[in-house]
Amino acid sequence: MRGDYLNWPRLVEDALSKWGSVSVEGPFENIVVSGMGGSGIVGDVVKLLALERLSVPVEVVKSHIVPSYVSARTLFVSVSYSGNTHETLLATARALEKGAKVVAITSGGLLEKLATEKGLPVFKTPVGLLPRVSFPHMLTGVLGVLDSSGLTVASRAEVEDAKRQLEREAGEIASEASSLAEFAYSRELLVVATHSPLEPLAVRAKSEFNENSKIVVKVDVAPEWMHNDIVGYEKPLFDEYRVVAFYDPDDQAGRGLVEFMVGEHERRGRRVRVLALRGVNKVGKVLYAAMLFGLASVELALKRGLDPAATESIARYKSAAG
Ligand code: PA5
Repeated sequence: MRGDYLNWPRLVEDALSKWGSVSVEGPFENIVVSGMGGSGIVGDVVKLLALERLSVPVEVVKSHIVPSYVSARTLFVSVSYSGNTHETLLATARALEKGAKVVAITSGGLLEKLATEKGLPVFKTPVGLLPRVSFPHMLTGVLGVLDSSGLTVASRAEVEDAKRQLEREAGEIASEASSLAEFAYSRELLVVATHSPLEPLAVRAKSEFNENSKIVVKVDVAPEWMHNDIVGYEKPLFDEYRVVAFYDPDDQAGRGLVEFMVGEHERRGRRVRVLALRGVNKVGKVLYAAMLFGLASVELALKRGLDPAATESIARYKSAAG
């Protein structure tokens, strides 16, 4: 699986070669991105990238429930790597009932079948990957659909620059990931801490450590952290924890918040690893963080003698959900 993550520049390149192949005609009052797990995080990241870029609101749906404002003026992006995720299929069917314009991002499955039957546009992602590994392809796919539909969240040039950054830095990211895996390999609870609006990257890190390394992870986000979690750390019922904290070096306020969190943990004698996100632009920072945490989580699994690809309990849930 290490090789799959290191192959990300090729995945981005493949998705870039299809940039402009899918577009949807607006105007739109809102964008809703639906998906679960490794597919759903694409929506969170698109929302993050759109924050200071788009005047149209972006919302993320991670369940079968579709918000009441979904209408014929909604661009509904349905993301499911397998195309068979129960919640995403139900949400997509409801969005169609409400007249939303639906685009599917998938490698196949029932979502592709539905799209074909209804004549919906589909951005195909390659088969044979794990959903979480195909993240940069699905993300580039959504960014391309939005750009081609007049809703630019990141331009093609920005994604190309981010891809070149990953190519240049893959070796360095891999060695940082080894050191991070070493740090995380402990009986202490792992806490991933950051500042707003970077929560999606912390959630992505958590999910990677959950699925690849099979560990429980807590996510802390400042400044909300300063208004509740901070007190919980005064007398926690768990014995030990250690923290990986990251910040955007171009966000002075965010960096200050993370430094405050780090100070609180250090004065309690906890071990903290602090990282600054690197990136030529916002997409670059997203891909850097996702590759770093992805590789670190795979290495941690291997250190534990576990198969990073296996997610038995997700499969058990999916077969129970039908
Ligand atoms: O990374 C994973 O394997 C999971 O989180 C899946 O992404 C999640 O179960 C949803 O499946 P899919 O991405 O196929 O819709």
